[in-house]
Amino acid sequence: QLPCTVRDLSEAAGVPARDIQRILMEEGVMATINTPMDPELTEFVAAELGMDVDFLQPETLEDKVLRRLDEIEDDEKDLQDRPPVITFLGHVDHGKTSLLDKLIGIDVASGESGGITQHIRAYQIEKGDKKISFVDTPGHEAFTAMRARGANVTDIAVIVVAADDGVMPQTEEAISHARAADVPIVVALNKMDLPGADPMKAMTGLSQNGLQPSEWGGDVEVVKTSAATGEGLDELLDTILTVAELHEYKANPNRSAIGVCLEATQDADQGVQAKMIVETGTLRIGDIVVCGDAYGRVRSMSNTLDKHQKMDEAGPTATVNLTGFDVAPPAGERFYVLDDVAQAREIAEARAHQTRSEFLGQTGYQHVTLETLFD
Ligand code: GTP
Ligand code: MG
Repeated sequence: QLPCTVRDLSEAAGVPARDIQRILMEEGVMATINTPMDPELTEFVAAELGMDVDFLQPETLEDKVLRRLDEIEDDEKDLQDRPPVITFLGHVDHGKTSLLDKLIGIDVASGESGGITQHIRAYQIEKGDKKISFVDTPGHEAFTAMRARGANVTDIAVIVVAADDGVMPQTEEAISHARAADVPIVVALNKMDLPGADPMKAMTGLSQNGLQPSEWGGDVEVVKTSAATGEGLDELLDTILTVAELHEYKANPNRSAIGVCLEATQDADQGVQAKMIVETGTLRIGDIVVCGDAYGRVRSMSNTLDKHQKMDEAGPTATVNLTGFDVAPPAGERFYVLDDVAQAREIAEARAHQTRSEFLGQTGYQHVTLETLFD
């Protein structure tokens, strides 16, 4: 902690304060136990004592409060089955959005400007008596962060590879995001209807990237699909659901919600809109939420498939468009529900302050100020 006093160093080093005072005295510094020392002096004294010092940044209020929420361990008996989250990843134009449209019976692909996905989308749907959450990510090389975000919230990654094109740079990138997130991978070998489709070449590319197709004796399910003809779509869904069932995903719906902001916008007409996915707990209208440097009370939630369908609550892996934040929360940031609006404001302001001071290149000292203010 900075500035470090003689007492701080004495306690941290387990050395009597008078030993430190003696070293300082030899340097011509008359010190009491409350005398602060700058980092150079602290290091000098420590070196005289035969020690190394590490200056740790003190934990901030937000770290403390939010970490406590993160660390709540659910009782086994409170855990319930939750819908899986399935993220579609892959190279641009390989058919992610078209496949997802077909799977859930919507049409997003044809309305996209330039035929290119530029947003991360998330939908929770019901198939039979089961819910499933899907996340669609853009394949254009510019949107690496969105692919990483999509992979980070998912349980299963569906890597979409166009059979006429094979494994391409963002296919490889998608595979590495899925690996980093440590989630099972299912491959949709799409555009099988095209005359140029070359599944052998595509599967060779996959195995060169460490994804050994099951039909070649490996452990990766490669499902041949066509979003144009509908071929293989049932099999793709079955494969995904089989993988999901093997994992028995659980969460505790009866706790305060934690989740991730996938995307947020702020404009004059609509105000702040945030696309959120709930990971655990249940989010309700009126809940106090904090997400990065944004906070507020949940004013409204609507279904991401149909904005006219309002929701009062959103349980584990539900996807919602939410209003109520004061400013647009940063995409990829986790949100938390707190009991105390003043605390939520403090945390959001501290974050905003931190972002500003990082921007100004003067981190560190502010943290101490906050710590002393709020502790
Ligand atoms: P980005 O999100 O921009 O990365 O693209 P995407 O992977 O979502 O691809 P999208 O679904 O937008 O499809 C790209 C183009 O391929 C569109 O013109 C689709 O109609 C077409 N397409 C997608 N799947 C198939 C398929 O199975 N067969 C054929 N013939 N065309 C397909
Ligand atoms: Mg798309």
